Amino acid sequence: MDHPTAAAARRTAHAAVLLPAVLALLAGCAAGLGGSMGTPGAAGVRDPYFPRLGNGGYDVTHYGLTLDVDATAERLSATAVITARATQDLSAFHLDLAGLEVRSVTVEGRPAAVSRAGSELTLRPDRAVADHLRTSGTFRTVVRYAGSPRTVTDADGSEEGWLRTADGAVALGEPAGSLTWFPGNHHPGDKAAYDIRVTVPEGRSAVSNGELVSRRTDGGHTTFHWRTREPMASYLATVAVGRYTVRRTVTQDGLPVITAVDPAVAGASAGVPARIAEVVAWGEERFGPYPFSSAGAVVGRRGDAGYALETQNRPFFPGPPDTGLLVHELAHQWFGDSVTPESWRDMWLNEGFATYAEWLWSEDHDGVPVAESFRKAYADEANWAFPASRPPGPADLSRPPVYGRGAMVVHRIRQEVDDDEAFFGIVRGWLSAHRHGNASTADFTAYVEEESGLDLTELWDTWLDGGSRPPVG
Ligand code: TRP
Ligand code: ZN
Repeated sequence: MDHPTAAAARRTAHAAVLLPAVLALLAGCAAGLGGSMGTPGAAGVRDPYFPRLGNGGYDVTHYGLTLDVDATAERLSATAVITARATQDLSAFHLDLAGLEVRSVTVEGRPAAVSRAGSELTLRPDRAVADHLRTSGTFRTVVRYAGSPRTVTDADGSEEGWLRTADGAVALGEPAGSLTWFPGNHHPGDKAAYDIRVTVPEGRSAVSNGELVSRRTDGGHTTFHWRTREPMASYLATVAVGRYTVRRTVTQDGLPVITAVDPAVAGASAGVPARIAEVVAWGEERFGPYPFSSAGAVVGRRGDAGYALETQNRPFFPGPPDTGLLVHELAHQWFGDSVTPESWRDMWLNEGFATYAEWLWSEDHDGVPVAESFRKAYADEANWAFPASRPPGPADLSRPPVYGRGAMVVHRIRQEVDDDEAFFGIVRGWLSAHRHGNASTADFTAYVEEESGLDLTELWDTWLDGGSRPPVG
C-alpha cells in the first residue's frame, strides 16, 4: 500500500513539499486556539495613477447591491453583499467607499469592527471567522449604509460618481467614481459578477448593467433587479434613475438590446436601438463575438454628464449620440469592458482601439479612408503632448494622446503586419485571449510580436512610448 507521506519523504524535494503543509497545519492550530495568523490586506493595489484605489488580499467574485433611492434621487439606503475569495491569510481588509454613513458591517454573519479614513474602510472581522479568511477561502461581507452619495470632481475637472439629473440620477465611475455609491474593491483589476436591485418611487425607472431579472411594484415603489453575469470592472457599473422610456428589442442574432431614453430626447433617439444592432453586427465582423449577453444604451439629457461612458452592456450618453460616438462606446464593450486594463496606465488600449473603431466605421460607411483619419490625427499637435502609454498624471488620462495617438499605434501595427487578414486575426485573437479578463500594455506588445512574428521594438519606442512625433515613412 502506498503511504503518501512516506512517498513524499522519499522525493528529493520533500522539504519543499512538506514545509508549506506543516506551516498550514500550524496556522490551523493557532487559529483553532483563537489566534489569527493573517496579516492585513493592503489599502491599495499601487495603481500608478491612483495608488489607494482597490485593495489587496482578496478578489471579489460577486456584488449583491440593494439600493433604495428616495424621490429626489438624493438619498440612498443600501446594502452591499460582497462575496470574495481571500488571496492571503487576512486579519483585516479594506473596502473603498467615499462619503455615506456605514450603519453596520458583518463578515461571515458576525459583526466586524470598522474604521474609516478618507476613502478607506477597514474591516477587522471577528476571530471566529478566521477560517474563512485564509488563502482561497470564500467569505461574505455585508455592509449596510445610507446617505447622499457624492459627486466627485476628477483631476481633469470632469464630474463622476453620483450625478443628479433633471428627474433622477445617474452613477458613472471612470476612473474612480463607483466608490461613491457602493463599497468595494474599486480597481479595474478586480472584476466580478453583479446583482443590482434598485427600488424607486412608482413611475420612475431604474436601469443598470446586464439584464432585467424582475420588476415588482408594491406599495408605491418599484424594484428593478438587474443581473450582470459576465465579469465587470466596478468603473463600468451604472445605475440610472429617472422617467426613462425603456425598450427591449433584439438583434437579428437574438441579442437583447435594452435602451432607456429620456423622453426629452425621444425624437432624436428613435433610431438608437436599430443603430446599436447595426454597430454590434459590424463590430462582430471586425472584432469577433460580442462579449456580453445584452447590449443597449442609456440616453439622458444634454448636461446630465459632461461625457459619454462605456458602462457595461449599456453605455451612457448625455443626449442622443451621433453614430461616431455610438460606435466608440460600443467598441469599448470589446476594448475595455471585456478586455479591461490591468491598471489605469493601460487606458490607451481602451481609447486607442475605440478611436480606431471610429476610423474603421468611417472607412466602411462614410468613404473616409483610415489613412486619412490617421493623417489628420498625425497632424494634430494635441495628440503629441505625451506618449500614449505615459500620461503624466491622472488629469491626463482622457486627453488626446490616449485616444488619437493610441489609434495611430494600432494603425502602425496594421501597416507593419501589412496583411489585413493577419492584422484583424491578431486583434480578434487578442480579444479572445483576454475575454472577460484584464491585460496590460506589456501583454499587448508581447502578444502582437508573438502573433505577427515581427520585432516591433522600434514601433513601440517611437509611436507608443516616444517623446516626440516620429517621421512617417
Ligand atoms: N472614457 C470615456 C469615453 O471615451 C470618456 C470619459 C470618461 C471622459 N470620463 C471622462 C472624458 C472624463 C473626459 C473626462 O467614452
Ligand atoms: Zn472611449
